[in-house]
Amino acid sequence: MSLSQDIESRVNILDIVNRYIQTKKAWVNYKANCPFHQEKTPSFVISPQKNIAYCFSCHKWGGPIRFLMEIEKLEFGEAVQILAKDAGIELKTDFLKEKGEKTADIFALYKQASIYYNESIYKEENKKALNYLLNRWLTHDTIARFQLWFSNNPRDLFFSLKQQWFDEKFMIDSWLFVSPTRDKFFGRIVYPIANFLGHVVAFTGRVMDDALPKYLNSPASHIFDKSSILYGLHLAKNAITKADKVLIVEWQMDTITLHQAWYEYAVGISGTALTKDHMKWLKRFTKHIYLCLDSDNPGIQATFLSLENILNEEIDVHIVQIPNGKDPDEFIKGWGEFQECIQHAITPVQFYLSEGRKKFDIASLVWKKALISSCLHSIVHVHSQIEVDIHIREIAKILDITPDILYGEYKNIKRWIKKPSTDESLVTNESISPIDTLAVYIRKYHLFDLFSEHFRYTERDLSEERNFSLLTSVIQKLPHTEEQEEYIWFIDLMIEEENSSLSHDSIVKKCLDLIRFLHGLLLQKEKNTLLYWLSLESLEYAQVYNELIKKAITLGIKPDILKK
Ligand code: UTP
Ligand code: MN
Repeated sequence: MSLSQDIESRVNILDIVNRYIQTKKAWVNYKANCPFHQEKTPSFVISPQKNIAYCFSCHKWGGPIRFLMEIEKLEFGEAVQILAKDAGIELKTDFLKEKGEKTADIFALYKQASIYYNESIYKEENKKALNYLLNRWLTHDTIARFQLWFSNNPRDLFFSLKQQWFDEKFMIDSWLFVSPTRDKFFGRIVYPIANFLGHVVAFTGRVMDDALPKYLNSPASHIFDKSSILYGLHLAKNAITKADKVLIVEWQMDTITLHQAWYEYAVGISGTALTKDHMKWLKRFTKHIYLCLDSDNPGIQATFLSLENILNEEIDVHIVQIPNGKDPDEFIKGWGEFQECIQHAITPVQFYLSEGRKKFDIASLVWKKALISSCLHSIVHVHSQIEVDIHIREIAKILDITPDILYGEYKNIKRWIKKPSTDESLVTNESISPIDTLAVYIRKYHLFDLFSEHFRYTERDLSEERNFSLLTSVIQKLPHTEEQEEYIWFIDLMIEEENSSLSHDSIVKKCLDLIRFLHGLLLQKEKNTLLYWLSLESLEYAQVYNELIKKAITLGIKPDILKK
């Protein structure tokens, strides 16, 4: 158990919350008006059992430490100190040593490594590293804010950690070292990568010259998952809420420079695209996304992929383009007006069109059709008909086509990829999918047998679909990352609120409804694969379609969802 976990296990969230607001008992939980936003009906729920509080309206949540941080605007360490006193724990700087045992806790390892690296940039002998950063126009404030460090000794870190009782083999396996005598980041500027709470979960090291590789990164681990982590989020979250938008750029340097230039609502993604997992974090703060990835080929591909990944997320996306192929860091340092880039950000449709026109020769009929199809695909999920109309007219104008014909095409495509007809009662929270809810039902109420008894598809059908990853990991009883655990807690608390007065039978019934919903999705997917290549008029089409209808009926699903 880490120190913070130890503290959280000893103090009661309700006691802490009661110091600030009035709470009222509501079944197993307590309720109050949320202290983090204005409201008349209480949506702030405190669960003494789970030792967390959650606002169903503004989505702020956390355990005792986090609550204290938010309400008193404290840093993590400060909140820990205050609560440690309450819990009667004396804070020892040498906490691990005190325990006298070898530890293989990766969080603790990175924390101790951070302590070791910290301030190294200001040592006289590391002047070269400090100058490198200053020459890149970073201020001392920025260096401190992002905790930029330097590794100037290949051996010291290993020995320092060994003295802290870390297990030697575990240390080697942690990828902080090439060997016991060589720190992996030796000679490099070290950028710590922190999670949402500000805990360091990985490091990146950059060379100070043109040597290769330019960046070295910690490998993926159960606490560091590149496809969900957002660089700088712990520093950006307040600004994101305030600006009600988030700017997404590529990893460290761009994020750092933007923060320094007062765009504190910027966060970095690493080399790849924005994912649904990233969105789970971001949607807590805003629904307005400004994507600003590199304008080179990989950057453009990453933008396409990001748009695809977040298409159904009910968010408003803009693409920020920077002139002359520069990255935000270069652009800002070249005195570019970044505000203008944001003002001129384009919609996904405009992006598809402008990229398509670079690639497709629109004088050729085949390519023109391909371009039209790819653009229309990008708007079939736009809900507002007014918006669709604007987009279609825009495409029609640019490509010189009659809007009516485009509407026809648009309807064709929409028919194929129509959103599954969701059972309203299942959608308990707009940002949580019923499938994730199902996963938590199974875990919370131990409905593993019920699931395997009623589930009519295979685990493979599930694992092919990224949105089902939580469900897959729950039924395979795989361990979860810290972030997944937090997300599960979230849903768990919500379910508890809803089901507090229900009998076990009613809960089972709700679970069966969710399984039926899952069957509906899988059936639709099956339909799309089976019918995709068949012509609407063919006999085969009709046969397959009939089979699917029969299947729907046996699964207890309304055949409506198969409607063409
Ligand atoms: P860039 O080469 O564009 O780096 O790589 P950058 O962000 O502009 O950094 P500076 O300005 O040169 O310091 C884009 C991203 O690709 C990843 C990093 O995440 C980087 O931010 N990358 C690049 C690596 O992981 N390893 C490398 O060797 C190079
Ligand atoms: Mn750069």
